[in-house]
Amino acid sequence: MEEMCGIFGYIGSEKASPILSRGLKNLEYRGYDSVGIATVSSRLETRKDAGKIDDLRARLNLDEVEGNVGIGHTRWATHGAVTAENAHPHIDCENKVAIIHNGIIENFYELKTSLAERGHRFASETDSEVIAHLIEDELSKDSSIPGAASSWNGCSFEHACVEAFKKLRGSFAVLAIHEGEEKIVATRKDSPLVLGLADHGTFFASDVAPFLDWTKDVVYLENGDLVVAKRSDLQFFNLDFGEVARPVSTVEWDLQEAKKGNFDHFMLKEISEQAETIQRACLQNMEVVDRIAGMVRSGFGVFFIACGSSYHACLTGSYLFSKVAKLHVNVALASEFENYEHFLTENTLVFAVSQSGETADVLEAVRAAKRRGSRIVSITNVMGSSLSREGDELLLMNSGPEICVLSTKTYTSQVVMMGLLACALNGDHESCMRKVKDLYMDVYNLTSRSMRDQLKALARDLASEDHIYMIGRGLQYTTALEAALKVKEVSYIHTEAFAGGELKHGPLALIEEGTPVFVFVSRDNEDRIISNAQEVKARGGFVIGVADWNNPVFDRWIKVPDCGDLNPVIQAIPMQVLAYELAVQKNLDPDKPRNLAKSVTVL
Ligand code: F6R
Repeated sequence: MEEMCGIFGYIGSEKASPILSRGLKNLEYRGYDSVGIATVSSRLETRKDAGKIDDLRARLNLDEVEGNVGIGHTRWATHGAVTAENAHPHIDCENKVAIIHNGIIENFYELKTSLAERGHRFASETDSEVIAHLIEDELSKDSSIPGAASSWNGCSFEHACVEAFKKLRGSFAVLAIHEGEEKIVATRKDSPLVLGLADHGTFFASDVAPFLDWTKDVVYLENGDLVVAKRSDLQFFNLDFGEVARPVSTVEWDLQEAKKGNFDHFMLKEISEQAETIQRACLQNMEVVDRIAGMVRSGFGVFFIACGSSYHACLTGSYLFSKVAKLHVNVALASEFENYEHFLTENTLVFAVSQSGETADVLEAVRAAKRRGSRIVSITNVMGSSLSREGDELLLMNSGPEICVLSTKTYTSQVVMMGLLACALNGDHESCMRKVKDLYMDVYNLTSRSMRDQLKALARDLASEDHIYMIGRGLQYTTALEAALKVKEVSYIHTEAFAGGELKHGPLALIEEGTPVFVFVSRDNEDRIISNAQEVKARGGFVIGVADWNNPVFDRWIKVPDCGDLNPVIQAIPMQVLAYELAVQKNLDPDKPRNLAKSVTVL
């Protein structure tokens, strides 16, 4: 059973439950369908159900629960029903141990069977519940630890947790609490877990954004770490009880960046930040960029791997590498990468691109490539994420937190970084930086009120459509792919993109009287794509041009400047705004489209 979840924990001098509610609220953007918390005071108390945080906060009086130690969880079910029983935290038979878990326990069936044979009673269908029972099982055994390091205090709860964690196969971030003990015991393996250190206590979360309200001092955990947090004490061990040191880092992200400010939605806020964020994408350590360019040149076979929007940025990157640097790269969806794995050697260079740095398909592909000795360049927005620590080289997008489930600002940053690398391959990264600088006002204008009003009017006209199509060629084709993804995932309108040249190989059959077709045009391929637009028009299609001049074939025109190789940035932005306005028009929440999660941590 695979699940994508948000984890939050707190221990300190403050009452835990209101902090947990706020932390879980901050985690909402990851997507979820159930919520729960557990705290320790005089006894262990768990409250959980299916539903939204605000609703459960009121209905279950979440903030009333006493205790200075607590764990909270948002569950997004991919298997198993959305029920109170399946929501976390999960408890043992005697309601003494509570755990929350993100990840997948691969051997849960055998663990569950053997625990059940020993009399444990299970309340849920989840794999996670076995962890609570495993700890309970260990607690009932002798707690002495042969060979334990002297720094290890030998407490039976920590011991029981370690023994239980060692039995787990798969990926997991786990927080555990125990009745009568003011402590949180935590571990991680291949699932994200970050600590936040404040004056009054310690926070645990799946990423840093949810605790930025309290602190920017963070500790990133390594696989196999064990954390024992008490009210005024924090220790790090490995699972063999050896004490380990973990440095404290300061997050660059600003708290305000994780807040909506005056915007109605994060999506619009993040779209509006792009004049700035594309500049920040260029702020790379050029020694690293040049070193990576050297690796590309000396490599034998270069792959770009990613999912979703990041994959579209990679496709765009492959066109840019070809056009600007005359270099061929292979692009693969991370989930399809295994089909190419036999090509990988020690000379292969793999660029893994992931905003979150936690996408399971990407991480699996990276690990497969590493097993074959290939070198990895990680491109991510999240410092401390799993991907940021897997690669031989790391480039950060510098976009600040992206809270909306949809990628907007990080997509354009990825495209800019691809452009920067392509130029660096020509020994001229400065030309890219100059061009990006020149885009500032253009991008700013594309997110202005007047542009939004124009796109809002278009959204009103399109909101009741069942199908929208988009076409382009070259860099405009990859832009069309990304634009179609944005529109479909947030408005639920079926939207599909085609390469202009493919129209007559099938898709033209879809065009009826009034079918809306967006046509992405650039100066360097205008003749061919305009002739595709005419083919659409001749079948009654309603042509919406995205171009820097108004061609007579257009029924509607979205005016964008022509910025050559950076057109994928410029042309994506009005499409993001249109997608946003379509969602608003249809009374949908643009920040949290149905069925989607921000970090896709399952395969
Ligand atoms: C679309 C979107 C997704 C992500 C995809 C990969 O708006 O956000 O398609 O691009 O899930 O996510 P990352 O980049 O975090 O690996």
